[in-house]
Amino acid sequence: MKDRKEYIIELIKKNRDFMKEPDWESVPPHEDWESDQQKGVAEPPPQKHFPKDASLVDLIPKSTFTSEEFSISLLDAISNRRSRRNFAKSSLTLRELSFLLYSTQGIRKVISDERHGQKKAVRRTVPSGGSRHPFETYLVIQRVDDLTPGIYRYLAFEEKLVLVKEIDPLNISETLTGLTLSQSFAGKSAVFFIWAAIPYRTEWRYSIFAPKDILISAGHVCQNLYLACEAINAGTCAILAYDQKGMDKLIEVDGEEEFVIYVAAVGKRKD
Ligand SMILES: Cc1cc2nc3c(=O)[nH]c(=O)nc-3n(C[C@H](O)[C@H](O)[C@H](O)COP(=O)(O)O)c2cc1C
Repeated sequence: MKDRKEYIIELIKKNRDFMKEPDWESVPPHEDWESDQQKGVAEPPPQKHFPKDASLVDLIPKSTFTSEEFSISLLDAISNRRSRRNFAKSSLTLRELSFLLYSTQGIRKVISDERHGQKKAVRRTVPSGGSRHPFETYLVIQRVDDLTPGIYRYLAFEEKLVLVKEIDPLNISETLTGLTLSQSFAGKSAVFFIWAAIPYRTEWRYSIFAPKDILISAGHVCQNLYLACEAINAGTCAILAYDQKGMDKLIEVDGEEEFVIYVAAVGKRKD
């Protein structure tokens, strides 16, 4: 068996190599990695299916948002942004939650993208390589006005939430703290954002080059959450230290075709 130190050194090297991918100089021959899009395979759906009889919640449509209600100067949003871990006990309104969801994964328009040979290409409020947007947004809700605590998923096209499952409100806080490796501020969040990746959405076009694209795109999503929180007197903190298997299980995804990639705690600010 390899020496443990040797193993760690190799792992660090492997991780660094991964960060440099794609290395266009040494990619395998094109016929080996031709993408499914190039092979003519049908495009995967831009949003995960939800059952017809699912329990849905109407969000506040983006068309009703006004610049005044979510007004903060861009300079202030950028300068004040910080990771906030001190949450008030108050709730978010459904309108505020709708704004956060629109800011992070909302749909700006659906267009015909001839450059990529797509009749219907989705453009959202954040960038994503090739506009593939490989994410689903799940929410663990503890304190949002008019919403029963539970786990929900954002339906950006419909501007609705679909209930994934109800959970005992008394256990949510402890569960979130446990799944974030004892970070108790996570358990005190009003809403806990969980972004899961469906890698095939990006692999369909970019094949072996998808992973870095997906990871970088996730950063854009969370950055918009940080900035949008500044406009509603809320705060957020990105979290990477979480229990992968436990988080996948919490939102009922298989951990292979769909898995959690990034999470963030959100709450009203105390200060
Ligand atoms: C990818 C990523 C992962 C992070 N993971 C955690 C985390 O697990 N726990 C935590 O308290 N903060 C986490 N943070 C927040 C950072 O600690 C924070 O951004 C950093 O200390 C700088 O502070 P600022 O965001 O207030 O500028 C993470 C931030 C990023 C971008």
